[in-house]
Amino acid sequence: MNKSYYKSLNVSYIKGKHKLEILENNFREIRKNEVLVKVKYSSLNYKDALSITGKTRITRKETLIPGLDLSGMIVKTNSKKFKKGEKVLASGAGLGELINGGFTEYSYVPEDVLVRIPKNLSQIDTMRLGTAGFTAAIAIEKMILNKQDKGSGPILITGATGGVGSISLSILSKLGYETIALTRKKSSIKYLKSLGANQILQFEKKIDNKILGPKIFGGAIDNIGGEVLDWIIKSTKDNGNIVSIGMACDPNLKTTVFPLIMRGVNILGISSTNYKGNRQKIWDILSNKYKPKNLNIINKESIGLNDIPKYSKNLLLGKNTGRIIIKMY
Ligand SMILES: NC(=O)c1ccc[n+]([C@@H]2O[C@H](COP(=O)([O-])OP(=O)(O)OC[C@H]3O[C@@H](n4cnc5c(N)ncnc54)[C@H](OP(=O)(O)O)[C@@H]3O)[C@@H](O)[C@H]2O)c1
Repeated sequence: MNKSYYKSLNVSYIKGKHKLEILENNFREIRKNEVLVKVKYSSLNYKDALSITGKTRITRKETLIPGLDLSGMIVKTNSKKFKKGEKVLASGAGLGELINGGFTEYSYVPEDVLVRIPKNLSQIDTMRLGTAGFTAAIAIEKMILNKQDKGSGPILITGATGGVGSISLSILSKLGYETIALTRKKSSIKYLKSLGANQILQFEKKIDNKILGPKIFGGAIDNIGGEVLDWIIKSTKDNGNIVSIGMACDPNLKTTVFPLIMRGVNILGISSTNYKGNRQKIWDILSNKYKPKNLNIINKESIGLNDIPKYSKNLLLGKNTGRIIIKMY
């Protein structure tokens, strides 16, 4: 290491006031069971955008480096599990919330949140996937575990042009599921078709007071919540699985238990941060069976640390398509 300091983007809350700044940090002694990673890539997730803009407080410390994801190489280690020179990634698991995240040139990372980059994934592909890819994978795993068959009807994906939406769509079509993409972007038809969408629906407000609707969807991956989720619940076929991932539109849900008790519809929850399974196993699946064919279509843009605030604002306005990579060097 020939640098005496490293740059990071920091969020602080001093007396409750949100502040964002680029800092130059001194290197410190490495702690037990910790490694120092030279970060090559990070990525921009919805939660990161909330953190950067201060719209919602995501960081749980007075000062913290945001960024749910990072991918890089170990340059120092005080861990028995990881060697110097190994390529690793970290995604979710408290990064950018409880511990320093990926918007930095170097990161001190506890060994228990690190994952070895699987053979079939390049370093950039790990961040093209990032938390969005990890979340899509655990959502689909949960649906399959709950017996979501390919013949049980089309899977609806909402917020389809977003990170989780794009990757879920791509994985489900690769696995042979029929898919319906729901989007607000009229201009994204070609993009969604290229990810394998069999049908595309335009987003509209779905207010109706019926307790049960026509059975349309075999299941769903929902990134937006609110009235749309309410409509999905009453439009899902018998025993279908709906995975609730996000609330980009609305966190509130006004529904009845009728679809659950008359049709056996299942609502499954996902928390990528609190995932208790084996993270390495999910990344191995993402590098193989679930690896989207079109990661270079899903991610077209690489930005620098300085660009993160501008891109965060656009992401929260729902203007972005696919995934954004942050390139450190
Ligand atoms: N549970 C978890 O562990 C977990 C993990 C990752 C993400 N999430 C959550 O999942 C959601 C999606 O995350 P992401 O990273 O994919 O975000 P993203 O890339 O910003 O995608 C969100 C998409 O939702 C749609 N959308 C945005 N604002 C909307 C609004 N006001 N009304 C209706 N649709 C809107 C847009 O798609 P269209 O323009 O195509 O409609 C947008 O591209 C977020 O709420 C995020 O916090 C949860």
